[in-house]
Amino acid sequence: MALARTASSKADLYSLLVRELQALVGVETDWLANLANAAALLYDQLPGLNWAGFYLYKDGELVLGPFQGRPACVRIRPGQGVCGTAFSRRETVVVPDVHHFPGHIACDPLSRSEIVVPIVVSAGEGGGESEEGKKDWVAGVLDLDSPEPGRFDAVDARGLEEFVRRLIPHVDWQQATGAFVSQPGH
Ligand code: SME
Repeated sequence: MALARTASSKADLYSLLVRELQALVGVETDWLANLANAAALLYDQLPGLNWAGFYLYKDGELVLGPFQGRPACVRIRPGQGVCGTAFSRRETVVVPDVHHFPGHIACDPLSRSEIVVPIVVSAGEGGGESEEGKKDWVAGVLDLDSPEPGRFDAVDARGLEEFVRRLIPHVDWQQATGAFVSQPGH
């Protein structure tokens, strides 16, 4: 089913996507299955993408996680490229033209625009025991690429942030990232 055809607007499409996500991950507890289905849902239902997937923060680097699209670079350092920038800033980064983003990592030369949403997990959420004094931490990023320049705007940013917020409780992020590791600068 193509949600984009039934949606009345882009914001509405994201509401439908979040509902679909809930149906897919709400009954499952396996983190890998849920991340894989989340990436597949976005890639399948959002028009104009050539890549959708996750990078997970492991031992000081962002490491390629479940995704849809062409094979991609495996390791990205915090602060490096669009993914590393969104991770370090802890905020969504929208890049209308990747050729004008200094340090952009070109995994696929066809990609022209990109959006990256950090996955900020609250202390006590995302698996493991809540520990006194633990702060929110960034478990990784969601990355979407498009061959169209200017594909992503503020509606995509808000929609994907909500998508990530709804996904967070359905993934054991401590398992997904290997272990609890301290964040640089936090
Ligand atoms: N372009 C990204 C790297 C990941 S790929 O696009 C899948 C970046 O600059 O961080």
